[in-house]
Amino acid sequence: MHASIPEFTRALAESAGELIRRERLDVQGLTSAYKGGTELVTNADLKADHYICDAIRARFPDHRILAEESAPDMLDLSAWQGPLWIIDPIDGTVNYAHGHFQSAVSIAYAEHGRVQCGVVCNPFVSETFHAVPGGGAWLNDTPIHVARKTELRRAIVATGFPYIKGDMTQIVRRLALVLQECADIRRLGAASLDICWVAMGRLDGYYENLSVWDFAAAQLIAREAGAQYGHFKPVPEGISPEFHHQNILVANPALYPQLHELLNRADRG
Ligand code: IPD
Ligand code: CA
Ligand code: CA
Repeated sequence: MHASIPEFTRALAESAGELIRRERLDVQGLTSAYKGGTELVTNADLKADHYICDAIRARFPDHRILAEESAPDMLDLSAWQGPLWIIDPIDGTVNYAHGHFQSAVSIAYAEHGRVQCGVVCNPFVSETFHAVPGGGAWLNDTPIHVARKTELRRAIVATGFPYIKGDMTQIVRRLALVLQECADIRRLGAASLDICWVAMGRLDGYYENLSVWDFAAAQLIAREAGAQYGHFKPVPEGISPEFHHQNILVANPALYPQLHELLNRADRG
């Protein structure tokens, strides 16, 4: 008998996690390059991407796959209703290539335009976050919940910065206000884990512009853990909020409106 989709997804994320963990032990064998001249990619990103896609194709030959390294075509994503897998083979590649422990494999499965199963596995600390709609959020086999904090001045807020350095004015303005009004900030370098860390209360809030593979799995985990997940700017018409990748904001329901207001205040100058 076949494993269910959630069982299959968790086993796949954990075996891909084991693959990237092992690959990094071979320091001599690890090679890296810069996509588009700026974005770091290692041979382990490519290996894990192929490993995950091959396993999905073997079991579900008709399903669509969106994978950062081998199939990054996001065209018509908001209108797509069929079975869809969204994969980041290594989220946190810069951490990975520098020997840090904050990297993860992220796999989401969507149907009817909604994520039905999300798994984020950090093999370096043996932590797998997972969720299905209505099933709560889990870290390994323990249920997780967002932190109960209600005051911005006590909140630890994470964010990230784009690889391509354009005009940084807006980013710096937001950062300055968050730093001023909140307890502290973190830049951990793996968006999927930032969101899962909000889900389990290690962080109180998170905001950033991302790509869909960074957050597809983690957004479900965060919602199932009681977080409010959304956007601090309006979502453009015709774009599904489920897959909208800009101005993402995650926090518990008490802090979400406060961070929403803060980030918009920063933009007003
Ligand atoms: C990156 C990480 C990082 C975020 C970047 C992402 P990658 O993913 O999630 O935290 O700030 O926007 O691109 O490149 O390591 O898969
Ligand atoms: Ca990523
Ligand atoms: Ca990646």
